[in-house]
Amino acid sequence: MTRNIGILGAMAQEIDEVKALLTEKTVVKIANREFVVGKIGNVRCVVAFSKWGKVAATITATLLIQEFAVTDLFFIGTAGALADGLKVGDIVVSKRLVQHDLDARPIISRFELPLLNRVYVDSDPDLTALAGRAVTNLINKGVESIVGKEAVKEFNLNPTLHFGDIASGDQFINSVEKRDEILSLLPDVQCVEMEGAAVAQVCLEFGTPFTVIRTISDTADHNARVDFGKFIVKVANAYSRAIVLEIMQMI
Ligand code: ADE
Repeated sequence: MTRNIGILGAMAQEIDEVKALLTEKTVVKIANREFVVGKIGNVRCVVAFSKWGKVAATITATLLIQEFAVTDLFFIGTAGALADGLKVGDIVVSKRLVQHDLDARPIISRFELPLLNRVYVDSDPDLTALAGRAVTNLINKGVESIVGKEAVKEFNLNPTLHFGDIASGDQFINSVEKRDEILSLLPDVQCVEMEGAAVAQVCLEFGTPFTVIRTISDTADHNARVDFGKFIVKVANAYSRAIVLEIMQMI
């Protein structure tokens, strides 16, 4: 079967850089979303901005699968670090996704996905390994060649790759209290964002293999908003473009 790769991104600017890589492009608009269909190299793909939050990302992921028949789905974006040892510029590739704001107690246990009998959704091991190799290639090439000398200096970039759990919720986490609360309940979680676990649930239900790639833009504390804004413009867009190019070369 010919593969048709879905690529979703959480930031419009970030995904614009990816859209620019496509050749033989067609743009399809559905539900206030723009899906760009085309090729990167010889690989067929569909690229879209997920929009923010779990509901928005659910709509976009469902459309990608149902309307565009993607065979694999990569989600790319930024996240706030929860785990010690993660620093701005590091990259986390998902092992499992969890919704940190899901709580239907006392009917079922905290974080459990209703009617799915699980808290975590596993990302696809092959796509996760492939994303890991793509990130390793990027790191080996040196991020300076991707974002430029100034950004490397400004954000003190020396990226490392991590595989681990990612938590999603409809909140931008920007306090130590909130960050510590999530970590105390879900100690294996590496980082926090607002879409990945929703996309994971969609992919689970449709049987579509997926993985999530998140670059750390902030440490989910009181500085998160400032760090996040600067990081998106100066680093995240270029990182995403480079990671997608690496992935497509390996498919
Ligand atoms: N995406 C990037 N940083 C984030 C944060 N601190 N909280 C939620 N989503 C994020």
